[in-house]
Amino acid sequence: MSLPTSTVKTDPQWWRHAVVYQIYPRSFADSNGDGVGDITGIRNRLPHLAALGVDAIWINPWYPSPMKDAGYDVSDYRDIEPVFGTMADAEALIAEAHAVGIRVVLDIVPNHTSDQHRWFKDALAAGPGSPERDRFIFREGRGADGAEPPNDWLSEFGGPAWTRVTEADGTPGQWYLRLFAPEQPDVNWNHPDIHDEFTQTLRFWFDRGVDGFRIDVAHGLVKDGGLADIDGLPFPLPDDTPDGVEHPHWDQPGVHDIFRSWRTVADEYDGPRVFCGEIWVGRDHRLTAYLRPDELHTAFNFNFLMAPWLATPLRETISSTLAAHVAVGAPATWVLGNHDVCRPVSRYARPQELLKPGFPNLQPYLALPADILLGRRRARAAALLSLALPGGAYIYQGEELGLAEVEDMPEAARQDPIFAGTGGANVGRDGCRVPLPWTPTGDSYGFGPDGGAATWLPQPAEFAALAASVQDGDPASVLELYRAALKIRAGHPALGDGGLQWVDAGDDVLAFRRDPGFACWVNLGSQRVALPEGATVLLSSQDLTDHVLPPDTAAWLAV
Ligand code: NOJ
Repeated sequence: MSLPTSTVKTDPQWWRHAVVYQIYPRSFADSNGDGVGDITGIRNRLPHLAALGVDAIWINPWYPSPMKDAGYDVSDYRDIEPVFGTMADAEALIAEAHAVGIRVVLDIVPNHTSDQHRWFKDALAAGPGSPERDRFIFREGRGADGAEPPNDWLSEFGGPAWTRVTEADGTPGQWYLRLFAPEQPDVNWNHPDIHDEFTQTLRFWFDRGVDGFRIDVAHGLVKDGGLADIDGLPFPLPDDTPDGVEHPHWDQPGVHDIFRSWRTVADEYDGPRVFCGEIWVGRDHRLTAYLRPDELHTAFNFNFLMAPWLATPLRETISSTLAAHVAVGAPATWVLGNHDVCRPVSRYARPQELLKPGFPNLQPYLALPADILLGRRRARAAALLSLALPGGAYIYQGEELGLAEVEDMPEAARQDPIFAGTGGANVGRDGCRVPLPWTPTGDSYGFGPDGGAATWLPQPAEFAALAASVQDGDPASVLELYRAALKIRAGHPALGDGGLQWVDAGDDVLAFRRDPGFACWVNLGSQRVALPEGATVLLSSQDLTDHVLPPDTAAWLAV
């Protein structure tokens, strides 16, 4: 194996200000016409990413997988899923991305494997009490014949978090813990083999030039040894939770030791290798505990993602995020969407006062009326807001096209295990995972070649008008707004890492200054707002007249 020649500039701090584009490989671009995106499809579309101006891509899991949870059920951490391509394709992508100045971040899934991983097969074959079972979390059931799960923990995908196995002699046997789908057994992080396996996996990909990892369910790896019942304890724990009260399987203090040891592995490499944690913990100080100098570099800012499009909660979230990150010396990240949550256009399309706190996938929004044009207008303003804030930013594929959630997908087409796991009570996440439109015509709007298999999720007719080629060169398009913003951001000394000073522009306006000479104003109210005299508009999310900011509009200013 030869290491890729990289032209990515050596910037030891790149992760403090990077704009990272999330690629959901099943849905980005399909080169071979099987209806599923692949690595060659990503390679073919690198010019789109280079023209967009992103610093890095994060690719959702591309490892061999039975695809019971779209690749988050990994059966081999050091190979490539054949549907996506080959190891040679992966190495070529890494080299080609580097050659156009884009770093490559992979997705590591350390909380659970696939039930088709060699270790889980060995565990089933070896039987109760074996060392092989000790790599997972097997327990006897409760009740007279062990027919009840070992405790009251619930799966994120619905129902109990335990699955009972049938032992080799055909009798009902032990239960194993799986906080997600039944095909995703949780591993036992008290076992040294687990540490070794993931350390080797990190090195395997770092040695191939990969620049970092997004860490799946990073707050879930360690479970309370007693496997105590949850007994109704909510998670995230409320803000006023006293010190010492811990949830038995989320955000356990022991998880930090794992990331300290991972950091030493990343730090062995010359070109900076970095981590971004997927950490849903609510309270800021619990999030930034993962970002202490000897742990992870960054974490997704889900509190920002979940904030409604209302000035007060947004301002408070931004302020508390920044204060907590400054305290540990880490940069914040600004995230509007990903493959698990309802697309921002469709979230912002709802009456924001009616949104309830909670996990923002499509289900809670369905009951509320939607004004998609309003949602898109707000999403444009939110893009400028998020790209102006101090730190790094994430763009989930399709946000740069202004795609909305696909809400009316036929039930028969739905693939997300949440839909099946909840008996259809929760529609799940398929609506944000629909294959991208690249052209206004063609069987799959340019996602794959004409004459190929149907796309793995159906695309709506509205995608034609939002295709990348339609928006290319149209100054009013979402795509050109993103391109312009990223271009300014890359060259402006005030943007990226750093701090901000709030400017008082009224309750409904988020206005802040960043030195030298930059300001961002966002109007979340219903009245037009005059921009400061003497300021020059660098970019705005809608056309402005008379130096006035209309509702649901953002402007970047030279001040
Ligand atoms: C978080 C991932 O983003 C999601 O897609 C997945 O279903 C769960 N973790 C389980 O791996």
